[in-house]
Amino acid sequence: MNSEAINLKKVGMHKGLLYETIITTKNSDNIPNAAPIGVLCKSENEIVAYLYQGSHTLENIKLQKKFIVNIVNDPEVFVECTLSDPSPQHFKPYKDYFFLKNCAGYFTAELTDMKEVDRKDKLGSSNLNIIKAQVEDIFICQESIKPFNRASFAIIESLIYFTRLELADEKTRQKYLDRIREMSRLVNKVGGLKHKKAMATLLNRINK
Ligand SMILES: Cc1cc2nc3c(=O)[nH]c(=O)nc-3n(C[C@H](O)[C@H](O)[C@H](O)COP(=O)(O)O)c2cc1C
Repeated sequence: MNSEAINLKKVGMHKGLLYETIITTKNSDNIPNAAPIGVLCKSENEIVAYLYQGSHTLENIKLQKKFIVNIVNDPEVFVECTLSDPSPQHFKPYKDYFFLKNCAGYFTAELTDMKEVDRKDKLGSSNLNIIKAQVEDIFICQESIKPFNRASFAIIESLIYFTRLELADEKTRQKYLDRIREMSRLVNKVGGLKHKKAMATLLNRINK
């Protein structure tokens, strides 16, 4: 595939948005590993991921300098990869890599930069590794491919809480408003312009 053809839009990823994907890597014994990881689309051929210390994924990426980002639309696969490791028959080799057989599409990525930072958030302080990678080959495996972006779900959830505000007692109403504010923070973190505009319209209405 020539470099001109490399564009993450092919797998439905747009600049500035963070998508929930499944990253597949392998260890020094060639054993594949899969884990859900958020991937920020930095440009049409560059991604950034934020990896907490201690995962196999981080260890393997440090070792191999390359990995595959699987676009998965099946929530069951996310659950499986979070709660356990998928068995070897769920993986398929491609060149030096492994990808997930039932993904909607995938792309290979080569590490270009890695930076370790201290991060303080509501979970306390932790070591975070910011990795940058160049997208190499892109493959579409299923007709429909739409990577999960949490902003869309957050807006739908917020709208549901909004439509229930009138029905709720004061305590529940406050709980719903807190949840909407939390969703708004999420939309600003992982969403695109359209998501942010949609959320702002809802917040304006609530504040009236
Ligand atoms: C939807 C989703 C997104 C996640 N995103 C990240 C992420 O961006 N960075 C990270 O370090 N962990 C993330 N995690 C947590 C890792 O998937 C989890 O720590 C996993 O156990 C790592 O597996 P591994 O040790 O096989 O690499 C995410 C989990 C889920 C369910």
